[in-house]
This record gives sequence, structure tokens and C-alpha cells, in this order.
Amino acid sequence: MTWLTNSSIGRKVVMSVTGAALVLFLLFHGAMNLVAIISEEGYNMICEFLGANWYAIVATMGLAFLMVVHIFYAFILSIQNYRARGRERYAVSERQADVEWSSKNMLVLGLIIMGFLGLHLYNFWYKMQWVELQVNLGLLPHEAGADAANGIKYIKDLFAQPIYAGLYLVWLGALWFHLTHGVWSALHSLGLNNETWMPRVKMISNIVSTLVVLMFAAVVVYYFGYALGATYAL
Ligand code: HEM
Repeated sequence: MTWLTNSSIGRKVVMSVTGAALVLFLLFHGAMNLVAIISEEGYNMICEFLGANWYAIVATMGLAFLMVVHIFYAFILSIQNYRARGRERYAVSERQADVEWSSKNMLVLGLIIMGFLGLHLYNFWYKMQWVELQVNLGLLPHEAGADAANGIKYIKDLFAQPIYAGLYLVWLGALWFHLTHGVWSALHSLGLNNETWMPRVKMISNIVSTLVVLMFAAVVVYYFGYALGATYAL
């Protein structure tokens, strides 16, 4: 198993597999969020189900582990790419342009996404699962958890603010660029790199990334519009 950490291919496999698992999470999370547009009660039922229950906490820890590994390897791969360039660092070639893209832009985009994720976890997770967990452990009084599963309230409050609606859309833009290249790169590293598959892989990565981003953006735009409508109706 040391090839997973010691070889360049092994490290790319780790990036690809953790990245693919994170994309599956995003598809699940985005689809779950769409329920917020269809039914407010339905959305809060899902939030209740995914609160501070043992299975939701295990899933959260699994997700955190995947992210830590993905980011750790991102740094290792970037350092490795930087070193590999050696004296050729300033020479320009097509091959190098490709390496530049994956190592530099992907890392920067990933860091931007992580920054926004911190804000997002503060906006939702910190007020929901984290509060419920503390109530369950007796660290907070029962009443403190009254809104811990009221996801729709937090969505409405947040996206009524233009600054947050805007910030989330910027975040989703960065996510789109990261995913289009990331999904492509993962499938490529996992072997779909022959001439027949290259254009298909490009197409698949564009479709998956666009689907993920549109699912999230729909909720932002819908609830921003909802707040605007409510303001003008007054
Ligand atoms: C419109 C956009 C989004 C909405 C409305 C939304 C909503 C939520 C809500 C309500 C929770 C809290 C669930 C709970 O603690 O019970 C949550 C957690 C989370 N969200 Fe989002 N989310 C959005 C976009 C995103 C995006 C784009 C990402 C990643 C790039 C993301 C990653 C996460 C993560 C990692 C958690 C913690 C999950 C866990 O505790 O297991 N979310 N989100």
C-alpha cells in the first residue's frame, strides 16, 4: 500500500478517489437542497433526519476525513509538481501549461472553496448539527435547540441578504471551475485517457459540474427572489 503515498500515480489515485467521493456528496447535498424549493416541511424533515444522530455524525466525520486527505494530497502533489519542474520552471511549453493548470489553479481554487466552506459551515452546520449535539450532550439547555433542524429558516434569512446571495454565487463559480477540471483529471488518472474517451470525459465532467452547481444556485436564486417578492408585496 505504500505506493499510494510514495508514487506519483498513487497520490493521483488518492486525489481522484477522494475527489469522486466528495462529488458524490455534492450530488447528494445539492439534490437534498432542491427539496427546499419544493416543500419547506419536507426540507426541515430531512434536516431533522440528518441532525445529531449517530449515523449523521459518522457521515460528517467521514466527510471531514475525505476533505483532509484531499487537501493534504493537493499540497503534496503541488509541491511535487513544483519540484519536478526544476530548472525548467520558467520555460514555457504545452506540457508545462497543463501542469501549471492542475497544480496552481486547482490548489488556489480549492483554497478559495475551502474559505467559503468555512463561512458556509458557520452559516448552517454551526447553528444546526453543532447546537443539537451540544443539547444532546447536556452542554446547552433544551430550548437552545429549538431551531437546530429549521434549515429553511436559515436559508430564508441568509439568501434574503444580497451580499450572501452574491458570495454564494461566487463560491459556486469557483466550484464549477474546480469541478470541471477535477472530474476530468480524476477520470483521466483512473485510466479513461485514450483517444475515444478523452472527449467523452470532457463532456461528462462539464455535465456533472454544471448539474452540481445549478442545483445549489437554484436554491440561492429562488430564495433571493422569494425575499425580493416578499419585500415588494409589502
Ligand atoms: C445553496 C447552497 C447550499 C445550501 C442551502 C446548503 C445547506 C446546508 C445545510 C442546511 C447544512 C446543515 C445540515 C445540518 O447540519 O443538519 C449544510 C451542511 C454542509 N454543507 Fe451545505 N449547502 C449549500 C451549499 C454547499 C456547498 C456548495 C458545499 C461544498 C462545496 C456544501 C458543503 C456542506 C458541508 C461539508 C456541510 C456539513 C455536512 C455535515 O455536517 O455532514 N454546502 N449545508
